[in-house]
Amino acid sequence: MENVHLIQHPVLEHSLTLLRDKRTGTEEFRHHAAIVAQIVLLEATRSLPLRRKSVRTPLASAQGGQLTEELVLVPVLRAGLSMLRPALDILPRTPVGFIGLERDERTALARAYYQKFPVELKHKRIIVLDPMLATGGSLLDTIARLHDRGAQEIAVACVVAAPEGIAALHRNYPEVVIHTAAIDSHLNEAKYIVPGLGDFGDRYFGT
Ligand code: PRP
Ligand code: URA
Repeated sequence: MENVHLIQHPVLEHSLTLLRDKRTGTEEFRHHAAIVAQIVLLEATRSLPLRRKSVRTPLASAQGGQLTEELVLVPVLRAGLSMLRPALDILPRTPVGFIGLERDERTALARAYYQKFPVELKHKRIIVLDPMLATGGSLLDTIARLHDRGAQEIAVACVVAAPEGIAALHRNYPEVVIHTAAIDSHLNEAKYIVPGLGDFGDRYFGT
C-alpha cells in the first residue's frame, strides 16, 4: 500500500499483543503503550534531515549530525496524549500543537472541542499522533484544520489502523504518510476496529 508504513519489530509486536489482550490492566497498558509509541515515532522520524556537525570527543574530533528543528507534534486528545511523552523523550525540543476531538458514540462522527497550534506551521513537518485510525473522521478533521493553518507536510503516527480509515485518508490526502504498528481486518457496526484493542482512551486513562 502506497504511503502506508507498516512497522515491524519484535519488541513492538510483543507490546502490541499485550495492548490487545483484554486482561491487560491500566498500569500495564500504559507501560506497553509507551513502548509501542516510541518505536512508531522512531520509525516515523527515520527520514528527518540532519545538519552535519562536528564535536570534540575527549580524544579527537568526530563528525556527527544534529536534528534541524523543523518538526511539530500534534497529539489528538485524548488518546493521542499517550504518544506525546514517548515522543518528547526522543525529541525533547519539539513544539507541540493540540487538537481535541471526540467521536459521538452513536454516529461515530468526530466533534472538535479544543485546538491550539504553534503559530508557524507552513515550513514544518507535522506528525499527528493518534493511536487509533478507525473511520478516519478524526484524522480528516485534524488534517483539514492543519491545512487551514498553512501546514503542507503532514504524517500520521498510529498504533492500529483499519483499512477503511486508511482508504478515507488517502482518498482525501494521498500524500499523507501513515506510520502504523498494525493494519487490522475491518470496522464493526459500531465503527470499532476488529480485532483492535477496544477503546484506547478508556483503557489508557482507566475510564
Ligand atoms: C478515538 C481515537 C481516535 C478516534 C478514531 O478517539 O483515539 O481519535 O477515536 O476514530 P475515527 O478514525 O473513526 O475518527 P475518541 O473519539 O474515542 O476519543 P478519546 O481519544 O477521547 O477516547
Ligand atoms: N477508537 C478506539 O479507541 N478504538 C476503536 O476501535 C475505534 C476508535
